[in-house]
Amino acid sequence: TNPLQIALVGLGTVGTGVIKLINENGAMIAQRAGRSVEIVAVSARDKGRDRGVNLGKYQWIDDLGALATNPDVDCVVELIGGSDGTALELAKNSLNARKSFITANKAMIAHHGMELARLAEDHGVSLKYEAAVAGGVPVIKGLREGASANRIERVYGILNGTCNYILTTMEKHGRDFDTVLKDAQDLGYAEADPGFDIEGVDAAHKLAILAALSFGKAIDFEGVETAGIRSIMAADIGQAKALGYRIRLLGMARIDDDKLFQRVNPYLVPESHPLAHIDGSTNAVVAEGNFSGRLMFQGAGAGDGPTASSVVADLIDIARGENGTVFAVPASKMEKIERAESGNR
Ligand code: NDP
Ligand code: HSE
Repeated sequence: TNPLQIALVGLGTVGTGVIKLINENGAMIAQRAGRSVEIVAVSARDKGRDRGVNLGKYQWIDDLGALATNPDVDCVVELIGGSDGTALELAKNSLNARKSFITANKAMIAHHGMELARLAEDHGVSLKYEAAVAGGVPVIKGLREGASANRIERVYGILNGTCNYILTTMEKHGRDFDTVLKDAQDLGYAEADPGFDIEGVDAAHKLAILAALSFGKAIDFEGVETAGIRSIMAADIGQAKALGYRIRLLGMARIDDDKLFQRVNPYLVPESHPLAHIDGSTNAVVAEGNFSGRLMFQGAGAGDGPTASSVVADLIDIARGENGTVFAVPASKMEKIERAESGNR
C-alpha cells in the first residue's frame, strides 16, 4: 500500500513534537494504520533555525501557495497558529485541492470551522482537529464518536493548560503570576501571544468548538462571554482555599430552552468536586449525556508530546481512510442557535 505522504507546516513546539513521535513510533503507526505515515515536506518561517530535529531528509517548502498542488503531498498538517492569514489560506487551498487537512489551531476552527467543515464535506476530504481542544486528550473523538448516541445539553471543564498551571502553581508554591507564566511559556504550553491564554480567549475558542460538537449547533465563538485570570492574586487563591474552594478557569456551555449559553470565567470549585483536583497543565472536559451519564475526559492539555499524540492520531485515521464528518452531524445541518438573554444567564 502507498504511504500517506504529509507536509508539516509549522515546526515549533507541536511541529517538532510530531517529527519526534513519527521518528520514534513510525513502525508501530504503520502497523496500526495499515500503511506508513511519511513526512515528505516541511515549512516554517526561518529555514536556518536549529530545531533539535533532523530536517535534512524532507523537502523544504518556501512557497506555501504551491503546496495544494504538490502531487507528492496527500495531507497537509498546519501547526502555525492564528485564526486568519497564512493558516486559513493554507486550509482553504488544501481542502479545495482535495487534500486532507489536520490542524491544532483552535483559533481558526472557532472562527472559520463551519466554512472549513463545509468545504471538507463538499469535497469529500477529511478536516481533523483533535489537538485543538485539550491537547493530548481525545475529547473530539470521544464526543463525536464515543458519545454520539446521546443528547448532550451541558459541557464544561478546564480548557487552558497555561491558566491551570499558573493557578495551581501559585496555589501550591506561593509563586507570583509573572514568573509562573514565564515557566508555562518555557514549557511550550502558552500561545505565541500568551494574552490569548490569560484573558480566557483560548479557552473560549475551545469551548465554542466543544459546544458545537456536543449540541450539533453551529459554532458561535462571538457568543462566548469571556473573562480571564489576570486579576487573580495569590491572596484570592489563599482566601478561596481557607473557605474550602479552589479557583479554576472554567469554560461552561449549556442549552436551556433551545438557547445557547457559553461562558469562560474563573470559578470557585469546591474541594469535593473532581475539577478542584486537576492540577498543572492538565485539562478536563465534562459532558453530560442523557444515556451515558457524566463523562469526564482528562489528561495533558498542552505541550509537545501530548499535542503531537493527537495530531498523529488524526493522521492514522486518515491513513486508514476513516473520513467521517467533521462534527457529530454534517456541517450543512448545523444551524445557528439563539443566545440566552442576559437576564436568563
Ligand atoms: P510555536 O510558536 O511553537 O510554532 C509555530 C510555528 O509556526 C513555528 O515553527 C513558526 O516558524 C511557524 N510559522 C509561524 N508563522 C508562519 C508562517 N507565516 N509561515 C510558515 N510558518 C510559520 O507554536 P506551537 O507549536 O505551540 O503551536 C502551533 C499550533 O498548535 C497553534 O495553533 C497552537 O494554538 C496549537 N496548539 C499548541 C499547543 C501547545 O501546547 N503548544 C497545544 C494545542 C494546540 P519559526 O519557527 O520559523 O518561527
Ligand atoms: N495555550 C494552550 C493552553 C495550548 O495552554 O492550553 C493548548 O491548547
